[in-house]
Parts: sequence; C-alpha cells; structure tokens
Amino acid sequence: MRAVVRDGYGPVDVLRVATVGDPEPGPGEVVVRVAVASLNMADLDHLLGRPRVARLGTGLLRPNHRRVGIDVAGTVETVGPDVAGLRPGDRVWADLFEDGHGALADRVRAPASALSPLPDGVPFDVAATVPHSGSLALQGLRAAGRIRPGERVLVNGAGGCVGPFAVQIAKARGAVVTAVDHGDKLDLLRELGADEVVDHTREDVTRGDRRWDVVLDIADTRTVPALRRTLAPGGRYVLIARRIGSFAEKALLGPVVGRLTGTRMGVFAWRANRRADLAELAGLLTTGAVVPRIDRRYELADTVEAFRRLGSGAARGKILVVP
Ligand SMILES: NC(=O)c1ccc[n+]([C@@H]2O[C@H](COP(=O)([O-])OP(=O)(O)OC[C@H]3O[C@@H](n4cnc5c(N)ncnc54)[C@H](OP(=O)(O)O)[C@@H]3O)[C@@H](O)[C@H]2O)c1
Repeated sequence: MRAVVRDGYGPVDVLRVATVGDPEPGPGEVVVRVAVASLNMADLDHLLGRPRVARLGTGLLRPNHRRVGIDVAGTVETVGPDVAGLRPGDRVWADLFEDGHGALADRVRAPASALSPLPDGVPFDVAATVPHSGSLALQGLRAAGRIRPGERVLVNGAGGCVGPFAVQIAKARGAVVTAVDHGDKLDLLRELGADEVVDHTREDVTRGDRRWDVVLDIADTRTVPALRRTLAPGGRYVLIARRIGSFAEKALLGPVVGRLTGTRMGVFAWRANRRADLAELAGLLTTGAVVPRIDRRYELADTVEAFRRLGSGAARGKILVVP
C-alpha cells in the first residue's frame, strides 16, 4: 500500500509517497481503509518539529513517527485481538495526533480506543475535516463556560482550520459572533454566519471601546494585558495555544489578571478523540448547524502540494487528501 512518510524534520520536501507493507492490527488495534484525510496546522507543526520543545515528545533528533496525517475518516478493514465494539465495515473517524499519525495512506493502523463510530448521515469528506480542528473549537468554547444566547463571542484568528468551526458552533449556541482575520477570509467568515468581521491588519480589537463576553483566541499574537481589554465585566478568555511562551503566559498570568479584573483568562487541556465530543460534532453536522468548508482535494500522490497550500495560508477551508 502507499503511505506518505518522512525521515526527518523539515519543510514539505521531506515528504514522499512510499510503498510500504500492509499494516497488521495488534492487540487492541484495528486497520482502517482511509476514505479521506484532512490537513491541519498541527500536521505542519509536526512536520517541522515546532515548537522545538515539542520534540521532547515527538523525537529529539528524528521524529518518532515516520508516518504523517492525523484527521481520518474511513472504514474498519481488519480487527486485532481484544477489540470490542468495532467490526470490519464500520465507518469511523479519528484524530491520530496522539496515536501514531499515518492518516495520509491507503490504510492506517490505530488503537481501537482512538476511533469513534461515524454516523451514516455524515459523508467521509465532511467527517475528515472535523476530528482535530472541530474538537479544538468545541473544547475551547466549552472551556469558556456555557454560552448564553445573545452573548458576544470574539473568535480571533477565525479564518484558518479551527476558527470556522468555532464561529459556527458559537452561532449554534445563539451567540453574536465577531470573527477576526484578514483579506478574503473575511468573506468566508461572513458566509459561515459571523455577525461581524474585523480585519486585523486594519483594526486592533484590543484598542477599541468594544468588549466581548467570550474571546476564543486562535491567532495567539497578543499578551494578557492587551487581551484583557477585549473582555466585558465577567468576560471569559480562552487561548488555543500556538506558542509555548504564550501558553505559559496565559496559563500563569491569565488567572491572576482575571481575578484582579473580574474576568476569567486562561488555557485549557485539550483532549483528542473524546467520543462524546465527536458525537456532539456529528449532531451539529447532521442538523446543518456546522457545515465544514472544503478548500481543495488532493490525491495522495500530490500530498506535498497539499502541504504547500496549507503552509501558504491561501486555503479557504480544509484541505482534503483522498487516497
Ligand atoms: N491545547 C491547545 O491549545 C492546542 C492543541 C492542539 C493544537 N493547537 C494548535 O492550535 C492551532 C490551531 O489553529 P489553526 O489550525 O486554526 O491555525 P491557522 O489555520 O493558522 O489559523 C489561524 C488564522 O489566524 C490568522 N491570523 C494570523 N495573524 C493574526 C492576527 N494577528 N489576528 C487575527 N488573525 C490572525 C491566520 O491568517 P494567515 O495564515 O493568513 O496569517 C489564520 O487564518 C495550531 O497551531 C495547533 O497546533 C493547540
């Protein structure tokens, strides 16, 4: 079978499509025939080995995992010993971030515990866009506490992989949503239901008079003192971290500043593949409350091109790779 592999950290040129042996499921594992995979910023981070401190977990000099790709939707093909609840032919979806990667392949071996059943009503190409970025958006918003109808929600850095899910989930909760990004991503965000869009190259939301009840920060470019100014009394700020230094600042300083200013500021502990979250996301997909935007589809052989597009920032929606 074919699989996208890499032998070291580096830019997209380290990737190649190789012919490898068919995977055999071990105890507690299954082999999934990949229908569709999608790319996330986390794939690019993993490829580049950034931030460097993450290499403590992913391999200091060389990556522990040669395989690439985390978001997968497909069909269970073979089931190893000691697997309950999954059978060949079952439709499944998963984020393999913590489970060996390898979604960019004809087949992938994964622990059964990483896989969730995919309802029949959710097509594979829609499902593949969701597990990583949809879960981050859902868990990030949840960390801000229950969103009440009419609350003002700011999604900062809304036009990438995670933001479109956050905008649509917040709208589904009845929020009035402001989405911050730039260029023609703002048109996409309006189409997705944002009530207001802000171009960060023209307006600094930390400088105006406006305040929000909830701020979900995906761009991760500002400090706690600046971000505090975006919050209404009792407002809640949650960071989806891109940088270790910023994560530490928000985790340590955020709660202190929050307490002093009558707000809540901080980070959250993200968990991949929470079955309840994927079930909730499936519900949002089937009711049409969340409609993932697909940018382009690439063949497995064109994965390098797919990564180049991801890295260029030009994508307007999720990038799919179809074996
Ligand atoms: N626990 C955690 O917090 C956790 C867990 C897993 C993953 N992550 C990380 O979370 C991140 C998820 O973000 P994502 O995938 O949605 O990233 P993304 O696709 O890069 O989206 C970020 C968006 O923000 C825009 N942007 C850049 N600078 C901005 C600014 N100053 N103000 C407003 N918007 C700005 C970007 O535009 P341009 O690209 O055009 O500049 C882009 O559209 C990934 O880096 C992932 O590794 C965090």
